Amino acid sequence: MIRKVKGTRDVLPPDSRLWVAVENTAHRVFDGFGYDEIRMPVMESTELYVRSVGEDTDIVAKEMYTFADRKGRSLTLRPEGTAGVARSYIENGLGQRPQPLRLSYFGPMFRYEKMQRGRYRQFAQIGIELLGAATPVADVEVLLVLHTFLAEFGFDDLVIVLNNLGDPEDRPIFIERFKSELAAEKADLCSDCQRRWDANPLRILDCKVPRCRELVANTTPVADVANPEARAHVEAVEKGLEDLGVAVRRAPRLVRGLDYYLRTVFEVVSPKLGEDTVICGGGRYDRLIKDLGGSQVPGIGFAIGEDRLVEVLPDAFRRKVLSRPVIAVVPIGPEAATAGLALSRRLALAGLTAPAEVTGRSLKAGLKWAGKIGARAVVILGESEIAAGTAIVRDLEKGEQETLRLDEVADYTRRLVANAEEA
Ligand code: HAM
Repeated sequence: MIRKVKGTRDVLPPDSRLWVAVENTAHRVFDGFGYDEIRMPVMESTELYVRSVGEDTDIVAKEMYTFADRKGRSLTLRPEGTAGVARSYIENGLGQRPQPLRLSYFGPMFRYEKMQRGRYRQFAQIGIELLGAATPVADVEVLLVLHTFLAEFGFDDLVIVLNNLGDPEDRPIFIERFKSELAAEKADLCSDCQRRWDANPLRILDCKVPRCRELVANTTPVADVANPEARAHVEAVEKGLEDLGVAVRRAPRLVRGLDYYLRTVFEVVSPKLGEDTVICGGGRYDRLIKDLGGSQVPGIGFAIGEDRLVEVLPDAFRRKVLSRPVIAVVPIGPEAATAGLALSRRLALAGLTAPAEVTGRSLKAGLKWAGKIGARAVVILGESEIAAGTAIVRDLEKGEQETLRLDEVADYTRRLVANAEEA
């Protein structure tokens, strides 16, 4: 037997319905705020990620699926979406369009990571990017979209945490201070952090090793070293969120695993998955497009890990999506088969889920099939019904049945289903 590649997943029905529901909700909410979908390639030049995500990040240093194509070009399966959006913005002259530009994206990302719950090598992201607005209210909008989207599922336990990374000019000052505060304990840091000390010291703040956490807990927060403008920016963001009733919590040690961020960074944490397996990450990246050869275009956005979001969906939402009522259409005999499909079409167009029996089962076997697929009702089409332009609708819950004209079946079964949902 050939098995799936380690770290990839099959999303099977009915769980796939949860994914569809999540994506439909995202489209509805994002569209409502004016975000239009961009569809990007899943592979890009490796250089794009080296120059945006950053050479010294875990993603670029250890996790990329990089390969040479047949002409020897170095390509990489996208580990994230923001770099691709920036590349596309520059390449397609999207700066010519009315600004700011609001984009959303959906799709698979690839990172060679150690497998664990909520961590896959192919995973899906749902993201938005707001390009061309440097104001704090732009950050507020992006967080409001995130909050509005998550609220649609009825979560009551998610927390948005936020930090201020300051501007790139503040970074060397912060790092010098951070290192001097930790210098005496340097030897106590884990071996990974020893490496990070020179390569990417900010990432020491993100280390999961308890001793490293203890050591950094007393260092000066990165926000305290930020320049006054950057500080005012993030404070204005917090004020705006408060005005809108979007609760966020300051996380003074929050840093992100990608190099392009400045000022506002944030994550969404679910107690169900723990702090190390966050549902969403995002932040501001005002230098990214310029660093990639474009003009000075500020940006901010987020990406939600869809696998993780689906995993922690509240039970009520899950139940609602998974308990989709089904009407089974069972034609009896070969003459009735196409009539069965015609009825199936009629009910489908009326918004019902009404699969037809197409394997030639007898009435008895057809009813058994309907029971197995969890049908709420069966519509039976025998020869005499077809001749009379009628169908028998059997309510499988009550065990009652009724003969109806074909044009009445949709309304009747819709009422059955609606009553069942209310009950
Ligand atoms: P990120 O934090 O690297 O940010 O990823 C965003 C989300 O993708 C994570 O919060 C997580 O839910 C999900 N994710 C990441 N890796 C995995 C994995 N191995 N398995 C399952 N889910 C995973 C970015 O990618 C940025 N581009 C976000 C952004 C958009 N910043 C600004 N705009």
